Amino acid sequence: MPATAVLGAQWGDEGKGKIVHLLSRDADYCVRFNGGTNAGHRVVTSRVPVLVGADRNEIPGKPQEFKFHLIPAGALHENCTGVLAHGMVIDPYALVQELNALRELRGSDPQISISANAHMLLPYHPIIERLEGSQSALDTTAKGIGPAYRDKAARIGLRMSDLLFPQRFFEKLSAILERYHKIWPDHPELQRLQASELAQEVLRLSESFRDRIVDTVRLLNDALDQDKYVVFEGAQGALLDLDLGTYPYVTSSTATIGGIGSGAGVPPQRISRVIGVAKAYTTRVGHGPFPTEAIDSNGERLRAQGQEFGTTTGRPRRCGWLDLVALRYTAMINGFTELMLTKLDVLTGFKEIPIATSYRYHGRVLYDFPTVCEILQECEPVYERLPGWQEPLSDCRDFSELPKAAQQYVRVIEDELGIPISMVSVGPSDEQNLWR
Ligand code: GDP
Ligand code: IMO
Ligand code: MG
Repeated sequence: MPATAVLGAQWGDEGKGKIVHLLSRDADYCVRFNGGTNAGHRVVTSRVPVLVGADRNEIPGKPQEFKFHLIPAGALHENCTGVLAHGMVIDPYALVQELNALRELRGSDPQISISANAHMLLPYHPIIERLEGSQSALDTTAKGIGPAYRDKAARIGLRMSDLLFPQRFFEKLSAILERYHKIWPDHPELQRLQASELAQEVLRLSESFRDRIVDTVRLLNDALDQDKYVVFEGAQGALLDLDLGTYPYVTSSTATIGGIGSGAGVPPQRISRVIGVAKAYTTRVGHGPFPTEAIDSNGERLRAQGQEFGTTTGRPRRCGWLDLVALRYTAMINGFTELMLTKLDVLTGFKEIPIATSYRYHGRVLYDFPTVCEILQECEPVYERLPGWQEPLSDCRDFSELPKAAQQYVRVIEDELGIPISMVSVGPSDEQNLWR
């Protein structure tokens, strides 16, 4: 199997978790390379590893759901190792919680490997994010992602490898806390954090995963040399990429294909299958321009039908129509070799469905997506209106079973983008897929 990347093609929450879970059933490794607990990847599966005699098999049972935040979704499978690569920022408290929850669901320890060079997100990061006001200005997930990546860029961050040298860990933590205590001398929550206690607590927590801290760059490149099957799981979406997204309303990591090079140490040319995951419409959580947002009853209807509430924070997602201008851009910067289209079932019941094919900006027609915020927020979408359908799609199991209008909707997207749509998803479960 070719090394495969699964990347968000919009503003996140496209259904990457579901797709990664499906594709990594036979994978040797499933790798997260960016972000932290800001990600929320929901998987609904009726096939959980269960002990049958001496073997562990994935057998059908009643549907169960799991929300992944740090661990790659492939780690739910018995034979797939989840790799948390160095491009991530890892909250050790959340990691232990997620490992415990996953162990409970699987009935056994998930296999994971953690990069020694991954940075830690520690309790002062969310406090600083709140104090600085970036949480409210951008409407972030409030997990402390920006401050953790900033510490990394400023070269004062603490890494997983520091846990292997307790005395050095304590010294580095003391220095960074001293620095932040000086910057915010009057903040009780921050002042309460003391290096010795925090170091002890984190070291104690890390006992359950310290032996999984390894050189994941070597691990992954060796695996690829041995023709192992590796799936890379993007977090967030291309339009939230720090460099290529709708700055400043973005996250602080690389959510596009280049993030695999910088965040996992695997050269992107080793990845021959690059899957863009796109919803059949568009959503966005948090502030920032969103040209096709439906600020009317259609938006509310999409939110209700699509259950568009954040997997991580529960915030209502902003909803709107599919934006081909944006998708053309994210396909270009990622080099998608195929697309998977999710949540087509949610569009049932609309009389007609608008799709944006270009923007109008001060009287000019734009086909290229402007990433300058000041321009993007003044763009108005130019819509093509496609006929809707009334039939529910969630029981369809073959593309030919879709109503003609739904088939046409998929084909128009494919033709406009010039990229094949290899799978259409019609429900959250890992069985609701139309492969093409
Ligand atoms: P991710 O962050 O890209 O992994 O996406 P999330 O898990 O945050 O959000 C996608 C939501 O849509 C989850 O609740 C999924 O269970 C759900 N979902 C995925 N695919 C489909 C689909 O085809 N139809 C419907 N109705 N729900 C889906
Ligand atoms: P998944 O992997 C949707 C958004 C936040 C905010 C901005 C910055 O589930 O698709 P941050 O906390 O990262 O500093 O917030 O990015 N955001 C996401 N939106 N899905 C995500 O992840 C997101 N991760 C961050 O809402 O607008
Ligand atoms: Mg999500």
